[in-house]
Amino acid sequence: MSQKYQAPKGVSEYFPPRSSIFELAIEHLKRPALAAGYQLMELPIFEDTEVFSRGVGESTDVVSKEMYTFEDRGGRSLTLRPEGTAGVMRAVIEHNLDRGQLPLKVFYTGPFFRAERPQAGRYRQFFQFGIEAIGVEDPYLDAEVISVAWHGYRSLGLKNFTLKVGSLGDAPSRTAHRNELVKYISSLKLDEETKNRAAKNPLRLFDDKRPEIKVLMAKAPLLLDYLNEKSKENFESVQEILSNQKIEFVVDPMMVRGLDYYTGTTFEFDHGDLGAQSGIGGGGRYDGLMETLGGQSLSGIGFGLGVDRIILAMEAEGVAPTNRNYLDLFVIPLGESAKSIGYSIVESVRKSGFVADLAFGERSLKGAMKAADHRMAHYVLVIGDDEVGSGTAQLKKMSDGSTSSVTLTSLVDALKKLSTRP
Ligand code: HAM
Repeated sequence: MSQKYQAPKGVSEYFPPRSSIFELAIEHLKRPALAAGYQLMELPIFEDTEVFSRGVGESTDVVSKEMYTFEDRGGRSLTLRPEGTAGVMRAVIEHNLDRGQLPLKVFYTGPFFRAERPQAGRYRQFFQFGIEAIGVEDPYLDAEVISVAWHGYRSLGLKNFTLKVGSLGDAPSRTAHRNELVKYISSLKLDEETKNRAAKNPLRLFDDKRPEIKVLMAKAPLLLDYLNEKSKENFESVQEILSNQKIEFVVDPMMVRGLDYYTGTTFEFDHGDLGAQSGIGGGGRYDGLMETLGGQSLSGIGFGLGVDRIILAMEAEGVAPTNRNYLDLFVIPLGESAKSIGYSIVESVRKSGFVADLAFGERSLKGAMKAADHRMAHYVLVIGDDEVGSGTAQLKKMSDGSTSSVTLTSLVDALKKLSTRP
């Protein structure tokens, strides 16, 4: 026996029948984005390592511990994308997309890579659906981005999720807070590694999972208390617009996103049934990212939603469909001439938009009927020599076993009349 292989540790994979939920999730998440004028951005899975190390920030776990970085054959350092925003910004700058109409509104979906410790809902290759709106600062745009995510979840039938919003303010607000926070942190007894992290970005300590650090940080100065008038007004506007849209949220003064580029409005969606990995999406505004990556000084806002976790959440809430893989028609030919006719019937039915399949191979009638059941066929057509001779056959409705006589040449019309498709 030759060696059997396994997928690399911690990757998420989708295959039938569950892959249909994956497809559905993407379809639904995309809908509100398309409705709001976001357009597809299809980008490389790997980028120059610096796009992430500079864009996402050296102080983050993502950059310091979790990147899949490798040298290509030309000695260039490349990294499998751990997130989408920095790559979008690189492409926007490279292709001058910021010189056209603003905001530039794009969406993307695909695999992302982080070398995290795998567990339920946390993978090393995972999938995100994301949007970015670049080049305009307007609280209505912040609210729109949040609302696109919210409507995406709702359209999948999800209910048990909460939205947290926060604000990191503008640069002067952050400087005022940072000064006080650094003062506070320097008064604490911390190990060297933690001190180093704090030196790179003191906000990171709010994100520290260790209970002893949590206790210390519970008394730390909060950014929300340092927002200047402009930032405060902006944050209040975002909240007001969300409230008017009947989008429920809580303000989380301790929210620190895991990536360094955030400024202004930030937000996270948590799902109540997912345990430790409850974050089903998050995002925020990023004022400095474009400049950091060599572009002009334009702000942007966006989100990334974790498709894998959304699927787990749909399953937990019992809203994941189980019958997406139905067939409108399953044709069972008995004999060679029946097969040739059956094959053309299936082809023409498919062209009319029905989902149809043929019993391939040499199957017994019993085996083929079982397959029809298994494939969730709505109708079955058995064609034998008699049917070939007469040009008519019995169309069997699987839900109640009733049959109706149909002419093989007008099967499409018959199906159109009978169709009970959801
Ligand atoms: P993020 O919060 O790092 O943000 O990731 C967004 C979402 O991706 C998370 O809420 C989670 O659902 C999912 N996710 C992250 N890591 C994993 C993992 N290891 N396994 C499974 N799911 C995961 C970003 O990535 C930003 N680029 C979002 C953004 C766009 N901000 C502005 N624009």
